[in-house]
Amino acid sequence: MKKKAYVVAITGASGSIYGFRLLEELIKHDFYVYLIISKPAFRVIRNELDMFGGSFEGLDAYNNYTGKTADAAFPASAYNRDAVYDEIKSKFNIDSKNKDGDKNNYEYLDEMFIEAKISSGSAADVKGMAVVPCSMGSLSRIANGVSGNLIERASDVMLKERKKLIICPRETPLNDIHLKNMLSLSRAGAVILPPTPAFYNRPESIDDIINFIIGKIMDAFEIENNIYKRWNPNY
Ligand SMILES: Cc1cc2nc3c(=O)[nH]c(=O)nc-3n(C[C@H](O)[C@H](O)[C@H](O)COP(=O)(O)O)c2cc1C
Repeated sequence: MKKKAYVVAITGASGSIYGFRLLEELIKHDFYVYLIISKPAFRVIRNELDMFGGSFEGLDAYNNYTGKTADAAFPASAYNRDAVYDEIKSKFNIDSKNKDGDKNNYEYLDEMFIEAKISSGSAADVKGMAVVPCSMGSLSRIANGVSGNLIERASDVMLKERKKLIICPRETPLNDIHLKNMLSLSRAGAVILPPTPAFYNRPESIDDIINFIIGKIMDAFEIENNIYKRWNPNY
């Protein structure tokens, strides 16, 4: 039987580390992952995680962006999928292949690859999707059913199929438009899960803080996990 799968979408908000850590954790739990990274997210990832620098053609194009539309400045054809896999492997040691050498852990999908199978409600292996971190731009487009790229379309499919869609919005402070979009999405069935850490469990490192959020996402997917320290009244 085919592995159960989740979609992880990383958009151009701060906190891209959450997306990669979720990818890692889902693979550890033996799920298959469809990974989508928005074009602006590549820029943020470079800034936050020192990835996709140097010879990454897509980013060079993005850095030359001078008022053109994002598509013109950063065309899908500029992506080298192998370079994406290589960068993720060297930074996080997450491999698309399992120990038997099968490409059975995850696959990276270009955000403009709208014909991907996760664009359709017929993808029976897909159990849910997390947009993490979710920019206010993606939040707005998902809340309004734009479906203009694979992240927006796959999110729309989750909602129409009544599958779990977790949105981790990242912005502060929030304006009325952000709040209205979050309310629309929550009413449409999405889980709004802001990446706001707790401090009652006494985090000692940035990893503890990240793991708290990853554990909360796994909880929302109803995947048993021990990734974070849960509340205990004896603290
Ligand atoms: C370094 C950096 C950090 C950013 N952080 C955020 C953020 O936390 N939240 C947000 O909504 N947008 C943020 N942005 C702006 C988005 O990347 C931008 O609005 C983009 O168009 C979002 O596109 P996407 O939703 O397709 O990824 C950031 C941009 C940069 C360059």
